[in-house]
Amino acid sequence: MPHKEGSRLFNPRPLSYCSVLRRPLLLRHPMACQLGSEVLVLLLLLLMLVLTCRTGAGGLDVNQFLRGEVFEVSHPATTTVRPVGEANGSRISLPRTGEEEWKEEILRLARRPEAVQWVKGIRRRIHENPELAYEEVETGRLIMEELDEMEVAYRFPFAKSGIVATIGTGGAPVVALRADMDALPIQEAVEWKFKSKRPGKMHACGHDAHVAMLLGAAKILKAREHHLKGTVKLLFQPAEEAGNGAKRMIEDGALKDVEAIFAVHVSHEYPTSVIGSKAGPLLAGCGFFKAEIKSTLGSSSNPRHSVDPILAASAAIISLQNIVSREASPLDSQVVTVATVTGRNNLNMVPNSIILGGTFRAFLNASFHKLRQRIEEVIVMQSSVYRCSASVDFFENERFYPPMVNDNKMYEHVKNTAISLLGSKSYRVVHPVMGAEDFSFYSEIVPAAFFYIGIRNETLGSIHTGHSPYFMIDEDALPVGAAVHASIAERYLAEAV
Ligand SMILES: *[C@@H]1O[C@H](CO)[C@@H](O)[C@H](O)[C@H]1NC(C)=O
Ligand SMILES: *[C@@H]1O[C@H](CO)[C@@H](O)[C@H](O)[C@H]1NC(C)=O
Ligand SMILES: *[C@@H]1O[C@H](CO)[C@@H](O)[C@H](O)[C@H]1NC(C)=O
Ligand SMILES: [Zn+2]
Ligand SMILES: [Zn+2]
Repeated sequence: MPHKEGSRLFNPRPLSYCSVLRRPLLLRHPMACQLGSEVLVLLLLLLMLVLTCRTGAGGLDVNQFLRGEVFEVSHPATTTVRPVGEANGSRISLPRTGEEEWKEEILRLARRPEAVQWVKGIRRRIHENPELAYEEVETGRLIMEELDEMEVAYRFPFAKSGIVATIGTGGAPVVALRADMDALPIQEAVEWKFKSKRPGKMHACGHDAHVAMLLGAAKILKAREHHLKGTVKLLFQPAEEAGNGAKRMIEDGALKDVEAIFAVHVSHEYPTSVIGSKAGPLLAGCGFFKAEIKSTLGSSSNPRHSVDPILAASAAIISLQNIVSREASPLDSQVVTVATVTGRNNLNMVPNSIILGGTFRAFLNASFHKLRQRIEEVIVMQSSVYRCSASVDFFENERFYPPMVNDNKMYEHVKNTAISLLGSKSYRVVHPVMGAEDFSFYSEIVPAAFFYIGIRNETLGSIHTGHSPYFMIDEDALPVGAAVHASIAERYLAEAV
C-alpha cells in the first residue's frame, strides 16, 4: 500500500511547518523553509518520482502519490510511524502486501464501461418509476431481479417492502451497508430523457442513486466474495422520508448479528465523487409536534364566561421561544419552530380548540429528548394557566429521528478507506447540518457512520438541493459510490479480525 509505505518512510516526527508551503515539511530543519518553496517542491517531486517508479506502486502516478497521502499527518494510519531502520534499511525492498491490491481491483471492477452503464441504467429505471414510502414494489422487484442475476442471496420482506441481501462467508463478523429506496411527493421539473413517469412523485433526494450504488457494491463484493473475511449485509430500506423505515427494519431483525453499519447520501454541496463526513454529530435529531389546546365553546362577546384557547396558544407560542434562547447552551445548536396555528374561522366566537404545531431539532441526543419534554410541558402548563387543557402528539412512530452521531472509529474507517481508494483530495471533512436522516435509528443500536458523496457538476446543472423539483445528480458519482461502499465493507471485515 503506497500510502502506508509513504507514511512510514517519510514522516519522521516532529514535523516542522513551512509558512510558504502551508503544510508540514518533511525536513526537520526550519531553515529548509527558506530554501524557497519551488526548490523544495522540485526536490520532493523528484524523490517521489524515483521512489514511485522503483517501488512499482501499481497504477498510481506521482500526482496521485503526492495527493496529500504523504503529507496527511492527522490520518491515524499514518501516525503509526515506524523508524526508517525497521524497513530493513532499504525503502524499496518493502514487500508489496496483498493489502494494496484491493483498491486497484475494486476500482477496476467499478470502472469497467459495462459496469458503469449498468449502474447508471439501474438508477435511471428507478428514477423513472419513483415510489413513495412503503410502496417500493417495483423498486424492490428490480433489486431482487438484479440480486438473482448476481446470485446473491437475500431475504424479503423486511419493514413491508425492504430487502436484506448477504454476501460473504455467512459467519461473523457481519457488517452492513444501507440504501433507502423511497421517493418524494414532488413533481419533477427537470426535463430529461429519464424524467419521472409518475405524476407528482420524484426521486428528489437521490435514493434512486443510493439503491444503484448499493447494487453496484453488491456486484463488486460478489466478484470478490473469496476475499471477504466475514459477511456483508446489504439493507435496502423503505420509507426514509416518512414512516421511520429504519426503525421497522430493525424491528424486523435487519441488524441481527451486525456489528457496524454504513450509509451514503448524495450531496449537491460537494463536487462529483468527493466523499465527505465528520466525526461525532453530523445530522440533527428531528421531531415534529402537534398540540391541541381545548376549552369550552363560548361567545367572544362575553369572554368572562368562556376560556380562551387563543390566548393559551399565544402564551404557549411565546414560551416555546424561551426553550432554545433561555434553556439551551448557545454552543449546542437547537431549533424549536412553531410552523402552524389553526382554529375556527368565525369572527364572532371564541373557538373551542386551537391546533398548533411545528418542528424541533438538536444535535445531541440528550438535548433532543429534552426539547421534546419541554415542548410538551410548556404547552400543557401554559394552557392550564389559561384554564385550557392541551395534549401534544410527537408522531413518534412516523417521523421522529434521533440525531445522527457518527461513531469515531467507524468515521475513521470511512475516512481512511475513502482516502486510500480515491486520494485525500477526494475527501473532505464536512460541517454538521440541521437536516435529519432515519439512519440514526441504526446508529443507536450499533456503531455507525454516515457519509456523503458529491454529485455537484456546474456543467450538468446538478447544483440543486435535495427535495427541490430541479434536483438532479451527476451519474459519474455512481461507480465511485459503489466502489467506496464495497471497500468500506471489505476493509471493515479485513481489519475487524
Ligand atoms: C533484510 O531483508 C533481507 C532480504 O529480504 C533478509 O535476508 C534480512 O534478514 C533482513 N534483515 C533484517 C535485519 O531484517
Ligand atoms: C437517546 O436518549 C433516549 C432518551 O433518553 C434514550 O432512550 C436513547 O437510548 C438515547 N440514545 C443514545 C444513542 O444514547
Ligand atoms: C461535469 O459533467 C460533464 C459532462 O458529463 C463532464 O464532461 C465534466 O468532466 C464533469 N465535471 C466534473 C467536475 O466532474
Ligand atoms: Zn430526503
Ligand atoms: Zn435522503
